[in-house]
Amino acid sequence: MSHGRFKNPVGAALTGLFDIFRKQDLKDDFSETDSLKGKTCLITGANSGLGFGIATQFAERGARVIMACRSGIPEAGEKIKQITGSQMVEMIKLDLTDLSSVHHFIEELQSKNIKIDILIANAGVAPPKARKTPSGMEEMFMVNYFSKFVYINLLLLKGIIPSDYYHSKNRYPGIPRIIYISSDSHQGASAVDYEEFGVYKDYGVKKAINNYSYYKLVMNTFATELSRRINIDEKVDVSVNVICPGPVNSNIARDAPFLLKSVLKLIFTVFFPSPYKAAKPVTYMAGSKEFEGKSNRYLHMFNPKKMDAKIYDEKEGVKLWEHTDALWKKIDPRYEEYDLNQLL
Ligand SMILES: NC(=O)c1ccc[n+]([C@@H]2O[C@H](COP(=O)([O-])OP(=O)(O)OC[C@H]3O[C@@H](n4cnc5c(N)ncnc54)[C@H](OP(=O)(O)O)[C@@H]3O)[C@@H](O)[C@H]2O)c1
Repeated sequence: MSHGRFKNPVGAALTGLFDIFRKQDLKDDFSETDSLKGKTCLITGANSGLGFGIATQFAERGARVIMACRSGIPEAGEKIKQITGSQMVEMIKLDLTDLSSVHHFIEELQSKNIKIDILIANAGVAPPKARKTPSGMEEMFMVNYFSKFVYINLLLLKGIIPSDYYHSKNRYPGIPRIIYISSDSHQGASAVDYEEFGVYKDYGVKKAINNYSYYKLVMNTFATELSRRINIDEKVDVSVNVICPGPVNSNIARDAPFLLKSVLKLIFTVFFPSPYKAAKPVTYMAGSKEFEGKSNRYLHMFNPKKMDAKIYDEKEGVKLWEHTDALWKKIDPRYEEYDLNQLL
């Protein structure tokens, strides 16, 4: 059976407190060369918490910002325009619990001929109990892992994130960057359990926090395998990197039971950095020269680190990819449209 690192949400939050005092190896200031002018940046879950902080910083640095959100349209985008004075902020609907929404999202990007330089795969949930999505899969599995696999592959296959690997004839200037927002709590989670992979199972609060760190390990394994597949012979076509922003005073505990929510809200408000502050290392990874053409890197806030050792096991990466692809094929009536061989 799969397991994560924590069994108690308050314990997990208190562990986050240590991060605040963690020595930072890299500078948290950026030079002019870290400007994002001319870049098109897509951020999922950009209407709230960390995603909103990232979108604000990207807009401040001159990027064209595309906020992929399931709610907050158009208010969140208007708010960022107001805060930053940038008018280059757009919003596109995306609900990761619904694959038809994922397909519409891809079609909208295509119809607008949008090419992405920087993708921040940020949207995530920590529901207090299992919730079934229209596809029959569990919400956390889908939002925190499975739908990411689908939409990131589609962005690459359709050339919305242009890469040599898929689109050798249409090489796009610059190396695109994909950044997965993770959590260092993935360290120590169990290896992927294929017996229960994608299978809906009821759970409560304790298992929820446990699953949260487990799915971060699953997601990081996918990121590492994607980096391996797309960057052949160490030639980086697309930078695929992972970051833990550290603790964030966000809305992630919004659905927790009343008492727990009150305790978490207190810890979050008093001790955790604002989403804007927590977004700084993400902006750094997205914009700094240090990450130009670099792939398969992990930052824990401003600290370069290794992820859990299991994540680098190539056999595990291939196995996860094959299982996820098979599940996609099984549940998505539109899967055949996206046959890789048709697109190359
Ligand atoms: N908070 C922390 O201490 C912390 C620490 C490490 C990592 N992280 C990671 O940071 C990321 C952002 O979380 P946060 O803390 O900023 O929480 P948050 O304020 O709750 O933001 C989560 C975002 O994800 C979106 N989202 C949820 N379900 C979605 C769906 N089905 N389709 C599309 N978007 C969906 C939310 O949209 P709605 O507003 O419409 O629900 C919201 O925009 C997550 O990946 C989380 O795991 C957080």
